Amino acid sequence: METIGNGNGGTVRTRHVAVFAFPFASHPTHLLNLVRRLAAAAPTVLFSFFSTERTNRALFTKRGCDNILRYDVSDGIPEGYVMQGKIHEDINYFLGVAKEEFKSGVQVAEKEVGMKMSCLVSDAFLWFSADLAKELNIPWVALRTGGARSLSTHLYTDLIREKYSELKGSIGPNDEIANLIPGVESIRLADLPIGVIFGDLDSPFASMMHKMGRNLTRATTVAINSFQELDPDVTKNLSSLFNNFLNIGPSNLVSKHNSPSKPDEFSCISWLDNQNPGSVAYISFGTKFCPPPNELVAIAEALESTKTPFLWSINKDSQTHLPLGFVERTTANGSGKVVPWAPQVQVLDHIATGVFVTHGGWNSVLESIGSGVPMICRPLIGDQPINSWMVERVWGIGVWIEGGKFTKHETCCALEQVLSVDASSKGMKERIGVLKDLAHKAVGPNGSSTQNFKTLVDVITR
Ligand SMILES: *[C@@H]1O[C@H](CO)[C@@H](O)[C@H](O)[C@H]1NC(C)=O
Ligand SMILES: *[C@@H]1O[C@H](CO)[C@@H](O)[C@H](O)[C@H]1NC(C)=O
Ligand SMILES: *[C@@H]1O[C@H](CO)[C@@H](O)[C@H](O)[C@H]1NC(C)=O
Repeated sequence: METIGNGNGGTVRTRHVAVFAFPFASHPTHLLNLVRRLAAAAPTVLFSFFSTERTNRALFTKRGCDNILRYDVSDGIPEGYVMQGKIHEDINYFLGVAKEEFKSGVQVAEKEVGMKMSCLVSDAFLWFSADLAKELNIPWVALRTGGARSLSTHLYTDLIREKYSELKGSIGPNDEIANLIPGVESIRLADLPIGVIFGDLDSPFASMMHKMGRNLTRATTVAINSFQELDPDVTKNLSSLFNNFLNIGPSNLVSKHNSPSKPDEFSCISWLDNQNPGSVAYISFGTKFCPPPNELVAIAEALESTKTPFLWSINKDSQTHLPLGFVERTTANGSGKVVPWAPQVQVLDHIATGVFVTHGGWNSVLESIGSGVPMICRPLIGDQPINSWMVERVWGIGVWIEGGKFTKHETCCALEQVLSVDASSKGMKERIGVLKDLAHKAVGPNGSSTQNFKTLVDVITR
């Protein structure tokens, strides 16, 4: 256990809040961004932020806020153990020790700071926080980093499983079921997050999601990175289920407290400045996941054959899978730019960007909405399929690549569909423009998310 800073910049501290991160993917970043926002709004509250050494090291590069302390907890991986590359191996090790690690961490922090915890804020995944908060006799605030619809699939997992076993034999993964979960008129079973009805339901990960779904109603408050105007029906349903359901996003639009974005070292923006408005396909699947090599080839072939200007953010290793001469040709004729990293929000906000080719991760969807850029989705894991379903079928602000995988033909069709100037593309742009306005309004001075955030501040300072 290690701390930095003394949490005492001369301010009198009235409350001590424990924060538990789920130390994988972008979860800790989002949680810390929220804590930074809370810390700025409630300067008399001291936050003790618990995560693994590896993630904390990346997050706390500089000394953060005066009132956020860093605490490291074990990742549960036995000393000298070499990862076997099994799915969720690191997550499983962590979950094996998480509850005890957080629990003893809280005792250390309380002793060092000289103040008992008054509130527990955690990633919603960490369902056992309900028990810890109860033991400590303090409120539990759960933060959900994904969307409301995918959350409802975890809340209604038992219901979905029941329905599925009733229908067993008569339906397959590619069948749709109507009105299974609130706000989703129909859903294809195969698009439910893994662990709801498909996959290894007894894996530690699936079991964590199931327990989250069962225990989340015990939270004093459930905060979510979304805005209620995006999903009014689900918001209504979840509000009836939770004590206090607060849409406080999109967090990308309240970026003041987010960790600073890296500079545009590959000059993406000046390249975009020379492109026609709405003409460029921006392609990025984030830093962690990537479609298989044959699909990268299909995208490249489609871009060249449709002569679509493109900005493609793809890491160096994956770049080796692109067709021979592709990068050189498109760089030379000025039609494209391949970079290992791009400042995504600025790229999406740029007038030249016409479509975002994405995996449909929640953050990417919110960023696309925040900039009003329609999407071509190729979901890879987790909640990406249900998000992509929403993008295409419910909100009508993009397309899910036909067949679920990039082929040259389907990629050409999707690019033409979104980038053309016909009615279908116009409708898409209009609809995402409406959502963009609602998103900005929600985080504006009198917006719903702004009000909800104030309520959240009240909860943690109470
Ligand atoms: C919380 O999750 C545990 C583990 O699945 C379960 O036994 C318990 O019933 C849940 N609590 C509530 C209130 O449902
Ligand atoms: C919420 O959705 C569930 C599952 O569809 C349903 O049983 C329940 O009645 C809904 N609640 C409200 C208040 O609409
Ligand atoms: C915000 O709401 C308050 C009270 O509800 C109102 O007086 C004020 O004019 C509103 N401001 C804006 C910018 O809408």
